[in-house]
Amino acid sequence: MKVLLIGSGAREHALAQKISQSPQLKKLYAAPGNSGISQLAECLEIKADNIQELLAFAKKESIDLTIVGPEAPLVAGIVDAFEAEGLKIFGPNQKAARLEGSKVFSKLKMEKYGIPTAPFDVFSHIDEAKRYVIEADLPIVIKADGLAQGKGVKICDTSQEAVTALTEMMSGESFGDAGKTVVIERKMEGEELSILALTDGEKIIPLATSQDHKRAYDNDRGPNTGGMGAYSPCPLVSDEKFREIIDLAIKPMVQGMAKEGIPYRGLLYAGIMLTKDAGPIVLEYNCRFGDPEAEVVLPRLKSDLLPVLYQIACGKLETETLEWHDQACIAIVMASGGYPGHYDTNFEIRGIESVSSQENIFIFHAGTVKGSGGEFRTSGGRVLAVSALGENLRAAHDRAYQFISKIHFNDCFYRRDIGRRALEVFR
Ligand code: GLY
Repeated sequence: MKVLLIGSGAREHALAQKISQSPQLKKLYAAPGNSGISQLAECLEIKADNIQELLAFAKKESIDLTIVGPEAPLVAGIVDAFEAEGLKIFGPNQKAARLEGSKVFSKLKMEKYGIPTAPFDVFSHIDEAKRYVIEADLPIVIKADGLAQGKGVKICDTSQEAVTALTEMMSGESFGDAGKTVVIERKMEGEELSILALTDGEKIIPLATSQDHKRAYDNDRGPNTGGMGAYSPCPLVSDEKFREIIDLAIKPMVQGMAKEGIPYRGLLYAGIMLTKDAGPIVLEYNCRFGDPEAEVVLPRLKSDLLPVLYQIACGKLETETLEWHDQACIAIVMASGGYPGHYDTNFEIRGIESVSSQENIFIFHAGTVKGSGGEFRTSGGRVLAVSALGENLRAAHDRAYQFISKIHFNDCFYRRDIGRRALEVFR
């Protein structure tokens, strides 16, 4: 199979790593890819949101399957454009991708299908929204309706914070039109869990559980980020509880969407919170693999992923189950100082080669480029993820921290407590 992988982050590097192991792969292209992915694929100078150029390339090269990593092209309708030309592509179409592309759409669907979620209201008028937050019980969560590069969710402990967040979002200052409508919901408390499931719109194959760490600093302090580390499996839920959550969060959404004539085909990601009082609730849906969840789930997958993604792109998932390695996996994200705010780039990264040659250690590149002398340099906020497999979470954790300490660049930082709660508290 000739495969085109779209995206340029650590998630796409993990996908490239997994797909490149498939005996069915003949040639892998990535658009635009990154300096890590370029070791596995031919990288193209086409941006992930340039749908017309991606389409032209896929047609010219007779690409058998295109796999979309990030949400933006899905929400912009890349699947519809490819399918209109008879090309196979993995991911939900534009209507189905609204589950991530519009928080309002997603909450209304949850309400309609009886999926537990935090109580919410929707506002498109700023004065009404301000009046509401001044009187609301705090803390509250304000979510921009549209895509905001992972920055559209604000947890507000005071009315002043809430009014500021509303002003920035609804004026269009922070996220343009994506912030002009907001969802305001009650802040729920509990442990979070990521559930990823593959579906052809009917059949569902859940992937292994994982937990992300979204705050920038240790002990879940600091601003929200795209994710600073993850581990899999997540010991928070038993097998029975896991099946219950699939029945509660994934099945009704897939079935409801199909019934409405919006079949969801691709990877459905449900962000779950395990609350004390209300049990598991859905915080959000995403329409693609999680990042950094992909960096811990995919290294544990024993089965060949490529034919499964191809079957889904053809509309018929024939695979019944996936096989998993017993090992646990943990990923720690190395970020540029200042991330998720302002950060400097173009620092040399030292130590990558010696670490990536270790067995069962993967360095998934995100914000890296090759310098003129062939060295790796930083180019983004999340720079790379170090993933380690181990016979259990403790072993994976110790190896990941042992090896990440050998990688350096100016101003780098990473959380020192990835997986710690799983090791110390949930056991
Ligand atoms: N790890 C969170 C996300 O992928 O959205």
